[in-house]
Amino acid sequence: MDNKIDLSYTMDILKRYPQERRFLLAILQDIQRQYNYLPRESFHMVKDYLGIPLSTLYSMATFYRAFSLKPKGRYIIKVCDGTACHLKLSQNLIDEIKNTIGIGPGETTSDGMYSLETVNCLGSCAVAPVMVIGDDFYGKVTPSAVGNILTEYGRVRNE
Ligand code: FES
Repeated sequence: MDNKIDLSYTMDILKRYPQERRFLLAILQDIQRQYNYLPRESFHMVKDYLGIPLSTLYSMATFYRAFSLKPKGRYIIKVCDGTACHLKLSQNLIDEIKNTIGIGPGETTSDGMYSLETVNCLGSCAVAPVMVIGDDFYGKVTPSAVGNILTEYGRVRNE
């Protein structure tokens, strides 16, 4: 994964907001959206721009589950593990993803392609088990379909 962060995006985001502390959450949301996580390199720019302590930034960044301090993959795979999906053996999908691309929940492939997350209910229990990759939704997913679905996203590391 390329570790170089283009901080000009952070600068562009900051310029959209007045230099007021109340915009911190919105700024962090924009940064998360831009980079798919919150790069620590951006924090100093935000701190200076808003004139707030770094500790305030970290408190907010770690409070909200939507924020990640670690780089995430290009594609976020969300497997629902809510009650309906759990009963329809969503764990088998998680296991199959681990077998196929080698990551468990909360992990990212070393090439930065995929991250895997479990979520609670995606509101589509009738077609459980459910998984989402990026903006694409998949219902009644079987473990044997996982490989094909992932192949649609570029490549699968089948060792
Ligand atoms: S429990 Fe998975 S969609 Fe509702």
